Amino acid sequence: MRQIHICEVGPRDGLQNAHHRMPTEAKKAWIASMAAAGVEEIEVGSFVPPKLIPAMADTAEIVSFAKTIGGLKVVALAPNLRGFQRALEAGAHKVTFPVSASRAHSLANVRMTPEQMVEEVRKCAQHPHPGVEIEGAVSTAFGCTMQGEVPEDDVVRIAAGLAEFCDCVALADTVGYANPAQVRRVFSKVRKEIGGKLEAAHLHDTRGLGLANALAAYEEGVRHFDSSMGGLGGCPFAPGASGNVITEDLVFMFESMGASTGIDLDRLMEARRLMVAAIPGEPVYGHMALAGVPKGFRAAA
Ligand code: COA
Ligand code: ZN
Repeated sequence: MRQIHICEVGPRDGLQNAHHRMPTEAKKAWIASMAAAGVEEIEVGSFVPPKLIPAMADTAEIVSFAKTIGGLKVVALAPNLRGFQRALEAGAHKVTFPVSASRAHSLANVRMTPEQMVEEVRKCAQHPHPGVEIEGAVSTAFGCTMQGEVPEDDVVRIAAGLAEFCDCVALADTVGYANPAQVRRVFSKVRKEIGGKLEAAHLHDTRGLGLANALAAYEEGVRHFDSSMGGLGGCPFAPGASGNVITEDLVFMFESMGASTGIDLDRLMEARRLMVAAIPGEPVYGHMALAGVPKGFRAAA
């Protein structure tokens, strides 16, 4: 039984910010190998204008492929109704929407204010979408490189707005400003407001606190985490953004604590080798990959 649910966001958050383009066939092989390692949910791409992020131009084909992998939940990001319609046509199981709590980042990222973006997601939720899950992800929930401080009340208000019509809400540390005390406080405040609709922590390791923040979120009751293989990632429209918390290291942390992720670390490392081979020259990170699995390591039951 999985106690921790990890959504691998490398094919979306990772590749959208990579210097090297991963060919479509290599993306498919990488996604299949991660699923074979036990990854249950993968954010495989985004339905944004291809001119804006060329690396995401093949997302429809990637979604169709990923849907053929039994048991895998296929997630895609959409920034507006047009993107949501494309995601529905492609057959994504879940669609996630980036709703920045920072007005400055929201305007730079989706050219809408946070309030306009909440209304855009509401429009999508009112559009027929049988069986498709909608996630509202509150971006820059812990601070913003453009605006600086993001008031916690703004985060709570946007999360509460999204919870009215989304199936689940995530809090994202888009630029890696969060610290563990803040993670506990903000998750606790939002949970008081929206209860069990608050699901995932989407953390970035920009200032080295990714795992510490993940542990803090875990202690606050969070069981859903986004992470990226090799620590790829970052929003191209948030200055100074860099990679997500590293999937391999996150899996090791939880498994060694006895909290099952359902992911086989050795097979995950095989998937990592495929990824590295598909974007040679791209900087990749990860303590597990450097140091290896400790002698006597036992995965959680
Ligand atoms: N997919 C494909 N094409 C789209 C689209 C989508 N989701 N949304 C809009 N378009 C097209 C429009 O049809 C229009 O095409 P045309 O020029 O041929 O008429 C063009 O793109 C501009 O549309 P517009 O509605 O004016 O969009 P915009 O230029 O104001 O951009 C967003 C708004 C939301 C589409 C854009 O800012 C975006 O995609 N942001 C997401 C960025 C991102 O992925 N960030 C990282 C993840 S958090
Ligand atoms: Zn991110």
